[in-house]
Amino acid sequence: MNSIIKKKKINSLYIHIPFCDSICPYCDFTKFIGKDIFKSKYVYQLIKDINVLYKKGYKFKTIYIGGGTPSSLNINELSTFLKSLKLLRDKNCEFTIEVNPESVDESKLKLFKSVKINRISIGIQTFNREILKLINRDYGIDYFALVELVRKYIPNINVDLIYGLPGEDISILSEDIENFLKLNINHISTYSLSINPSTMFYLKKVKEIDEDLSRSFYDFILKQLRANGYERYEISNFSRPGYESKHNLTYWKDEEYIALGCGASGFIYPYRYKISSSLTDYLKGKRIIEKEAVRKKDDKDYFLICNLRLKDGFSLEEYKKRFKSDFLLEYKDKIKKFLISGFLIAKNGRIYCSDEGLIRLDLLLRELI
Ligand SMILES: C[S@@+](CC[C@H](N)C(=O)[O-])C[C@H]1O[C@@H](n2cnc3c(N)ncnc32)[C@H](O)[C@@H]1O
Ligand code: SF4
Repeated sequence: MNSIIKKKKINSLYIHIPFCDSICPYCDFTKFIGKDIFKSKYVYQLIKDINVLYKKGYKFKTIYIGGGTPSSLNINELSTFLKSLKLLRDKNCEFTIEVNPESVDESKLKLFKSVKINRISIGIQTFNREILKLINRDYGIDYFALVELVRKYIPNINVDLIYGLPGEDISILSEDIENFLKLNINHISTYSLSINPSTMFYLKKVKEIDEDLSRSFYDFILKQLRANGYERYEISNFSRPGYESKHNLTYWKDEEYIALGCGASGFIYPYRYKISSSLTDYLKGKRIIEKEAVRKKDDKDYFLICNLRLKDGFSLEEYKKRFKSDFLLEYKDKIKKFLISGFLIAKNGRIYCSDEGLIRLDLLLRELI
């Protein structure tokens, strides 16, 4: 890690915990099951990397522990690991942990609060028991009771929902959104099911829903959430005002972040890097890192892909600072028709998509990049 982590001022840290209690048929993240005996060794290795950051003087404004399933670590492993992060937290650090409903309990929540975790993301995916069975996640859990318990310790809660799961129709989706609203929490991330190679769904030839259905599901979600006080601040993320995820905004603004852990990917300019997904190597202390220097054109393309997903788009000044160029001049011919049609808006020194533009974001990006 020493070779790649040189710079001082980076605001965000992601840490990957690659263990799960069971495997979901749609998941292509780096994860392992049945590896309980390796978890404490993993924590030991992570702490070595955390100490590298500490010695270099890092303090982070956001820390995000994701997975995999961070809550699948036992209370002792979690305690050792989370306490080691104390010196990396800047004042007012947004400190998030992802949990799965089946592996979070009151003792872990107490621990989270005591180490100053102040945001929690719960993977519910759907409230529908039939579909939960189909995706191997029917834990028989009362999600309302669970959220009440979580709220006692960490009031700032996100829920992940997936739409377009097999067997889902508009009435099931409508129940999911209704149930989410009843939870009375601040944030929701909701993605359309994607089927990726090497997942069980892919092997079983499960298909993604078609574009028209996906669009009508999305429109429904947008309408319901807006009507209930949630703002769409990123295409797939909605929050009550003031509860946007600062950490995830780092990704969408295409800002630098450090990533630690087996299979994790980070961005420290001028490199994007990925740590090898081999658990064996990680546990042996080997950090095999694939790094790629960003080329200017790719850097610009990626900046646009990320930033135009945001309700507020990006600042023209920021673009000029980063790319030494005037966006409106550089892209003049390409953006003209989108500005005229109102899909793109240039206002108050920013450029962003209108509602109509966001619907056509793929088309828009195809023309820009
Ligand atoms: C990396 S997962 C880890 C979270 C946690 N282990 C869980 O399962 O809830 C983060 C989120 O990505 C979303 N996700 C994962 N695979 C997906 C897929 N194939 N299509 C759409 N969303 C997906 C899910 O909503 C999930 O909660
Ligand atoms: S979706 Fe979450 S619980 Fe399921 S396999 Fe992926 S990381 Fe593990």
